[in-house]
Amino acid sequence: MRVLVTGAAGMLGRDLVEILSEQHDVIGAGRRGPDHCVDITDARAVHALLEAVRPDAVVHCAAYTNVDGCERDPDGAYRVNALGTAAVAGACHAVGAALVAISTDFVFDGEKGRPYTEFDAPNPLSIYGASKLAGEELVRSLCPRHYIVRTQWLYGEHGKNFPLAILQRADAGEELRVVSDQVGVPTYTRDLSRAIARILEQPLYGTYHAANRGEVSWHGFAARLLEMAGLDPGIVRPISSDEWPSPTRRPAYSVLRPYVLELTGRAEVLRPWEEALAEFLERIGRLRA
Ligand SMILES: NC(=O)c1ccc[n+]([C@@H]2O[C@H](COP(=O)([O-])OP(=O)(O)OC[C@H]3O[C@@H](n4cnc5c(N)ncnc54)[C@H](OP(=O)(O)O)[C@@H]3O)[C@@H](O)[C@H]2O)c1
Repeated sequence: MRVLVTGAAGMLGRDLVEILSEQHDVIGAGRRGPDHCVDITDARAVHALLEAVRPDAVVHCAAYTNVDGCERDPDGAYRVNALGTAAVAGACHAVGAALVAISTDFVFDGEKGRPYTEFDAPNPLSIYGASKLAGEELVRSLCPRHYIVRTQWLYGEHGKNFPLAILQRADAGEELRVVSDQVGVPTYTRDLSRAIARILEQPLYGTYHAANRGEVSWHGFAARLLEMAGLDPGIVRPISSDEWPSPTRRPAYSVLRPYVLELTGRAEVLRPWEEALAEFLERIGRLRA
């Protein structure tokens, strides 16, 4: 298949291009390329790109991902996450490409207290979550051949993310304070990329959850990460969300269960999060325990 990836220079996009390239002819697009430069808020440019490339499928990763930034800049959030996504969805439909649109656990309010399946009702608490949900709804109405893939707590080797920031601060001997009252699942971008490859294998369109297995708080994640890297987990102090300065309300419990992948026998690529974290640490040369 010929697959075009938007946001290809981002954290997920870079791993996705590498992993999908094992099976497909992959073209990377985004504000910074690598193969084509496009701003998804320019609908005409998005249509022209898809007309030129004629992909069989598009994996749409480009987004306004700065959650606090979205809260301060709702216009920007809706312009990129809703209208930009609509431009991609409309262009996919026009050229007959299937669309994989990446979405988020932030569409949920975190009140359920048990893992969320694809059949639970969204209720976002933040502008980021609401703008991504608006993007999902536009995808559903504009491009029938879609897979909406919700994921959470992403980290990988490329770009800024939580484990790389924790390791950097621990190495610098800085104080670490991490919230202990938000629970989710850390998800490795390489595992998510493999799950997306599995989802693309069958024409079963609709909404999917794709995250590593298990659950942990951000504080528990940081402590286990430090332990596995051979550092003292005691250097990270648990705090409550109220003690962390942020304009964004976040779900307290947003574990995503990949129920549709389970029902279709394709969930095996989503390992327990500690196994995925071990591979990540090994790949960056930091695995000790
Ligand atoms: N990170 C997480 O924990 C997480 C959790 C759940 C869901 N997601 C979703 O997963 C996807 C990938 O996230 P990520 O963490 O890999 O994000 P990322 O590293 O911030 O990458 C996003 C990419 O989108 C590009 N982009 C932003 N605005 C654009 C525009 N107007 N036109 C074209 N490209 C644009 C960015 O380009 P520039 O580099 O030029 O800014 C960047 O390359 C997103 O849809 C995000 O909502 C992420």
